Parts: sequence; structure tokens; C-alpha cells
Amino acid sequence: MKKSYLYIIYLLIVVGMVQLYSSCSESKGEESDAKAKADSAVVSVDTTKIPHDKFGDAIKYGRELMLRTAYYIGPNGVNGKYLGNKMNCTNCHQDAGTKAYSFNLVTAFRHYPSYRAREGKVLSLAERINNCIMHPHLGKPLPLDSREMIGIMSYLKWLSDSASATKATKGLKNVEIELPDTAASPTAGAVLYADNCARCHGTSGQGEMRLDNSTYKYPPLWGLKAYQPGSSMHRIVKMAQWLVSNMPYDKATHDKPYLTSAQALDLAAFINDDKIHQRPFVKEYQYPNPEEKAIDYDRGPFKDPFTEQQHKYGPYKPIVDYWKGRGIEPSY
Ligand code: HEC
Ligand code: HEC
Repeated sequence: MKKSYLYIIYLLIVVGMVQLYSSCSESKGEESDAKAKADSAVVSVDTTKIPHDKFGDAIKYGRELMLRTAYYIGPNGVNGKYLGNKMNCTNCHQDAGTKAYSFNLVTAFRHYPSYRAREGKVLSLAERINNCIMHPHLGKPLPLDSREMIGIMSYLKWLSDSASATKATKGLKNVEIELPDTAASPTAGAVLYADNCARCHGTSGQGEMRLDNSTYKYPPLWGLKAYQPGSSMHRIVKMAQWLVSNMPYDKATHDKPYLTSAQALDLAAFINDDKIHQRPFVKEYQYPNPEEKAIDYDRGPFKDPFTEQQHKYGPYKPIVDYWKGRGIEPSY
């Protein structure tokens, strides 16, 4: 009697231990599954979680500014006149920088301060923000202590802290495109433009203003009110990587691109051809060290044997191979 009682207790302990062990290893498995899932997930942000305090107020204003940049700080801005045009940050960094594969800004805060070849020096995040104010927006820099700069910085800080994004999270960078063996063709791009883009951006790329004239319904792609040649959007590969997952606005998504890589490059070549289209005049060009130029940057001098024409329109592969052959990872 006593013996079998002990035996049952012994059995219970063994069974319990086995269960404990298996449940432990199970939960461990679940945990790593969840981590893998988060890593491979597409970047997303829950803006309802912005805190309800003073910091939260700055974050909200920063987000508002990215969505309605022209209204607040455009040429007729209600809170200051900083921009030279009526575009909004969200025209390129869509959904105020939270849309995947659209020059996403969710982890931008973590990237600064960092060295930037374009300026040949270490930039702070505020300086990088002011680059976009000055180049695509043709504006003058926001003072560091302005409510606007504090707002945008707070928003980017909050995005970076609140998103569980890791390096493996998808959509932090734009999609990679195929680089064809032939140069991008502005002539082919003109035909594609008329068929797919002119209905919103206009036959002369001027876009369409909202009725209240505060900003655009469809932003301009060229002309004196569009981004200037010193902007990253003016680079053909850089623009094409964005176009494939984002334009035409009502047709393309990152998992269902509408344009092929070659079509996106032809369109970017047409839009960014300064012989066909006018853009704001820029005095100084960047990249003090020519060997650090992005391969699709279109102003010489270059530290490789390729012409301005080839740097601008491609074919890009020989340029990529040239630099790789010298142990340097080219940027584009
Ligand atoms: C015409 C398009 C356009 C507009 C408008 C624009 N940007 Fe940008 N922005 C870019 C491009 C292109 C890059 C470079 C992204 C890259 O190299 O992958 C960039 C880069 C940035 C970066 C650096 C991101 C990083 O991780 O390094 C920040 C920050 C930024 N923009 C903020 C802004 C803000 C704030 C506004 C509005 C005031 C704005 N941008 C308006 C096109 C634009
Ligand atoms: C249905 C209307 C529509 C069509 C069609 C369309 N776009 Fe856009 N495009 C937009 C809107 C709206 C934005 C601004 C996005 C935002 O604010 O979220 C935009 C933004 C852009 C931008 C970045 C902002 C700028 O002005 O520089 C580029 C570049 C662009 N579109 C190129 C194209 C190209 C190329 C095509 C044709 C393949 C195209 N779009 C077709 C509506 C459209």
C-alpha cells in the first residue's frame, strides 16, 4: 500500500518534469518563431500609440508637418515661410514616412549622425532633414530650435523607438531593380509617361493644385516648382527603385509592381532629362570626393572612365563591375 503510493508520486514527478520540459522548449520555439516573423514582416507603425503628453504633442506636430508641409511652412505657410514650393514630405516619403518601400523613414533616426558622401562629412539628423527642405523643397533650412525642427526630430525619434524594426524588416529600403544591359531611354519614357502618368501629373509634368491652392493634389515632376537637380529623386536608378512599388499611384503596390524595372528606368530618364525639361537652377553641385559619387549621379568629374551620359542613363552594370573589381561597393 505504502509502496504503490510512493510509486504514484514518483510517476507524477516524472510526468510533470517531462511536461515542464516540453512546454519550456515549446515556448522557446514560439518565441523564436515570433522573432523570425517580426524580422521578415513588412514595416508598420501604430500612430494611435503616440503618447498624450508634451513629447506626444511635438511628435504629432512633426507628423502633421510631414503630411501638410506646404500648409505649415510653404511659401504662404501659416507657421513660417521656409519652402520654395508647395510639395509635402509625404509626396515622396509616403504616409509621412511610414509606408513600406517608399523612402521609408521609420529607422532614419538610427542612421545619424553619419558620414555622407554627398557632403563629404558627418551629418546630424537635423542637417539631413534640412537637406530635404533645401533640395526637393527649394527651401531655406529650419533653425535647430524651431518648433518645426523639434517636431520632425521628435516624430522620427518616436518612429524609431516604437517600431520593432530590425535590419531584416522589409520595406525599410526601396525594392531593388534589375539593371538592364542597355541605357535607359527618355524617348521610350515619354511614351510610357503619356500612357500612364499624364492623367494625374499633367502633360507638362506640372501636377495639379488643390482647389484652395495650398498644395498639390498631384505633385509636379518637373518645372520650376519641382525638386531641383541636387535632389536624390533626380538620380535615375534612385527614382526607378521608388517608382516600381509606388506609381502609378492607383495601380502599383510593392508586391504587385505595375512597371517593369526597364520601364521605370525609361520613365525616370524622361522625367529627369534636363535637355527636355526645365528645373530650378542650382549653383553648387555636391560630392567633394569624386570617387564617392553614386553611380547614377550625373555631374563629373568622375574617378572612373565612364562619361556623364553613361552615369546618368546607363548602362550601369559596367560601372558597377568597374568599382566592384576594385573592391569598392558602388552606391546607387
Ligand atoms: C521629391 C522627393 C522628396 C521630398 C519631397 C522629401 N524627400 Fe526626404 N528624401 C528623398 C530621397 C530620394 C531621399 C534619399 C533616400 C535614399 O537615399 O534612400 C530622402 C532622404 C531623407 C532622409 C534621410 C533618411 C535616411 O535614413 O538616411 C530624411 C530624414 C528625409 N528625407 C526627410 C524629409 C523631410 C522631413 C521632408 C519634408 C520636409 C522630405 N524628406 C521631403 C526624397 C524626398
Ligand atoms: C492616379 C494618379 C497618379 C498617377 C496615374 C501617377 N501618379 Fe505619381 N503621384 C500621385 C500622387 C497623389 C503622388 C503623391 C503621393 C503622396 O502624397 O502620397 C505622386 C507622386 C509621384 C512622385 C514623387 C513626388 C514628385 O512630385 O516628385 C513621382 C516621381 C511620381 N509620382 C511619378 C509618377 C510616374 C512616373 C507615374 C506614371 C508611371 C505616376 N506618377 C502616375 C498620383 C499619381
